[in-house]
Amino acid sequence: MNPPGDASGQPLPVAIGRYRVLGSLGHGAMGRVLRARDPNLDRDVAVKLLREDLKLGAAERESLYARMRQEARACARLSHPNIVGLYDIGEEPGVGLFLVFEYVEGPTLEQQIAAGPLGPTRARELCRELGSALGAAHRAGIVHRDIKPANVILAATGAKIADFGIARIPGSTLTQDGRVLGTPAYSAPEAIETGEIGPAADQFSLAATLYEAIAGRRAFPGDDAVTVARHITGSQPEPVAARAGVDPHVDQVLARGLAKTPGDRFASAADLADALAEALDLSPRGPMPTLPDARHRAHREARATRRDLTVLGLGVVLGASLTASAFLLWPASSGAPSAAPSPPDTPPHRRSDAPRPAVSVLPRDADAAR
Ligand SMILES: Nc1ncnc2c1ncn2[C@@H]1O[C@H](COP(=O)(O)OP(=O)(O)OP(=O)(O)O)[C@@H](O)[C@H]1O
Ligand SMILES: [Mg+2]
Repeated sequence: MNPPGDASGQPLPVAIGRYRVLGSLGHGAMGRVLRARDPNLDRDVAVKLLREDLKLGAAERESLYARMRQEARACARLSHPNIVGLYDIGEEPGVGLFLVFEYVEGPTLEQQIAAGPLGPTRARELCRELGSALGAAHRAGIVHRDIKPANVILAATGAKIADFGIARIPGSTLTQDGRVLGTPAYSAPEAIETGEIGPAADQFSLAATLYEAIAGRRAFPGDDAVTVARHITGSQPEPVAARAGVDPHVDQVLARGLAKTPGDRFASAADLADALAEALDLSPRGPMPTLPDARHRAHREARATRRDLTVLGLGVVLGASLTASAFLLWPASSGAPSAAPSPPDTPPHRRSDAPRPAVSVLPRDADAAR
């Protein structure tokens, strides 16, 4: 007899491959995650199963599986203390393709933020951990494509990025009840507009994730996918520094990581994380950094006008594909939480004890022009 079902309402299998199922860890847009025991190695693992209700034809499913096997092989070579290790991939009748990950104990960053924003000290550690993990992945030629608070697990030994190695289902994929998979809340503008996802898109998603960790609310809030997509492609997130009690450099660094054009972001996600960690270390009373020069302002304004036109076009595309269907599993926390931020975990004046590091917040081409 199968054990009782999980929160998704689906029954739990007794075993998947050689892994004995112990219980459910949760579920998301792509599928569900079960805790299981590997009897050969005598350790717990997290087994990720794909949704059973994907509206995929046999050929589409086989192509998705082929991509997943290929990505899994690449990711299995990634070994980093801040990345959830991928141990195995398999296929089982009645279950389909499944991935076996390192089991990590701890809340997700999404759960942690629901209890309040991280103070500057913890946020700085998070920058170092996630920046180091993404830096290593990008150097190995691996893009995550879905960096978000729900994919960061806060283990006792430090934060770990989950779900590396999962080939994403194209945004157009529908489930059997016609809903679209995924949420665009952390997607880069270029990913929404063209589906183009590279390391710079991961950097944008990392910046949106770190913004939320510091602010305790989403960078691009909205009750539906179209509103969120419009914010991402067309508006700047509200500054957070004053509210969070951190230096204004933090806003400058986040704004650069969240730049609409990939070329205006930092050279790498690791550079963004380093700059943000340094900015979080500053006293809130520090002087404002040099602002981008007039040439870049004019350039940005011209681009904003072009973007407005693009968003109009995007509205038509999104309206057609998304309006009638809410994004699947749209989190209840998608709006801004009402709770006021908790006080920073280090008094701001203490952070000024250290020598002030130089924080570069200019677009890359501006740096080069100086
Ligand atoms: N390696 C792991 N170890 C322990 N728990 C995990 C692990 N991976 C995922 N989980 C738990 O399972 C839950 C569901 O994960 P899942 O990846 O299915 O959801 P998600 O990240 O919200 O959505 P998505 O399908 O877009 O990735 C997570 O919120 C987390 O609590
Ligand atoms: Mg996940």
